[in-house]
Amino acid sequence: MLQYPNYQQKFHLKKIKALIKKYQSPFWVYDSNIIYNKIKLLKNFDVIRFAQKSCSNINILRLMKNKNIKIDAVSLGEIERALLSGFQPNTNEIIFTADILDKETLSKVVNYKIPVNAGSLDMLTQIGKISPGHHIWLRINPGFGYGHSKKTNTGGENSKHGIWEPSLAIPIIKKYKLKLIGLHMHIGSGVNYVHLKKVCKSMIEHVYQLNQKISSISAGGGLPIPYNFNDKPININKYFVLWDTARKKISKFLGKKIELEIEPGRFLVAESGILISKVWAVKKMGSKNFVLIDAGFNDLMRPAMYGSYHHISVISGDNRDIDEETTIDTIIGGPLCESGDIFTQKEGGTVQTRKLPIIYVGDYIIFHDTGAYGASMSSNYNTRPLIQEILLHNNNSFIIRRRQKIEEILNLEKQYFFKKIILN
Ligand code: LLP
Repeated sequence: MLQYPNYQQKFHLKKIKALIKKYQSPFWVYDSNIIYNKIKLLKNFDVIRFAQKSCSNINILRLMKNKNIKIDAVSLGEIERALLSGFQPNTNEIIFTADILDKETLSKVVNYKIPVNAGSLDMLTQIGKISPGHHIWLRINPGFGYGHSKKTNTGGENSKHGIWEPSLAIPIIKKYKLKLIGLHMHIGSGVNYVHLKKVCKSMIEHVYQLNQKISSISAGGGLPIPYNFNDKPININKYFVLWDTARKKISKFLGKKIELEIEPGRFLVAESGILISKVWAVKKMGSKNFVLIDAGFNDLMRPAMYGSYHHISVISGDNRDIDEETTIDTIIGGPLCESGDIFTQKEGGTVQTRKLPIIYVGDYIIFHDTGAYGASMSSNYNTRPLIQEILLHNNNSFIIRRRQKIEEILNLEKQYFFKKIILN
């Protein structure tokens, strides 16, 4: 078995080799068992709401629906994905969380009666004007936040997210007779127990201060996973007890039962996924060893965007045994025409080396824990098609997204080619 930074992942070498034979590199793989195991860990929460931005393939959403998980959608596209996957409108199955409501999205949430978790006062007014009685939540910015990167901190004055002074929302809610369901806080991704304790305290204070008859509170998402061997998995029971205590205090204060929601993305899916890519060139630049593969930051953006660490394993392309003991300092790069297309780098772009076995052209590189914010953050940069997604389920593998065709990318532009623009 390959070595993994955490206890959850169980992709066996043989299984990966079989997938490599069957599918064209590069491709994403998800294992439904790992997702189901992660769901079980959160069973004490009344509602688990999956932040689908982390992994929005409709077959992954179907798995979630099958396990009675609810959905957080943050765009019209994500609402459409949730509906297509069987989540029901006019219930609490889908909640739309955002800081703005454009015209198309507003009309969708109104027509489908999808509750809105409002991140701005303007949203409340806009929805109130055309849909009195609409079910809403307030996303509160508690004035502090935390993220594994500055870019994933969603609280405090430098964050655009949430409502700073939720008391100002109450007159708007009253004016338009909106139905306030709950209060929500999500301060960022990669939070630890200390941050969460602060969030809990702030949630209780806000409930006391606002004194509204809500029926739910949401702890947001942000739970970390162990990407590295040194990272310890979060103690989910400790985390639940913290929030359960807050919920009990709030229930007592309001004199009614309060549902406790949690809204993870990464925690549920990150460990379920790997990215498989093939080595096409190995070269030396002065003293540095570069290995170039067929996946780029247009596929897996996290290292280039945040300096994120993804554990890397090597699979031989020629059936030799990989000598794990003999390692050399290696830089792994992709095919893009941009120097930042490096998978081994720190936040800010400093290139780092990784101690890896000796790699040859034709070998395969596996990036671990790519189930969250992998495929969902991919782009067409360098006119590279989106790659396949494969699901392992009941000892079988299924394509859940085929590779995009270059033609499909070009079709968006082709009909406008030279149409009215006269070149001179
Ligand atoms: N709820 C809200 C309102 C959010 O904005 C997010 C993530 C989540 C839940 C889920 O957070 P999670 O449990 O996955 O940490 N692209 C970054 C992460 C950005 C997260 C944005 N919001 C990354 O690759 O690490």
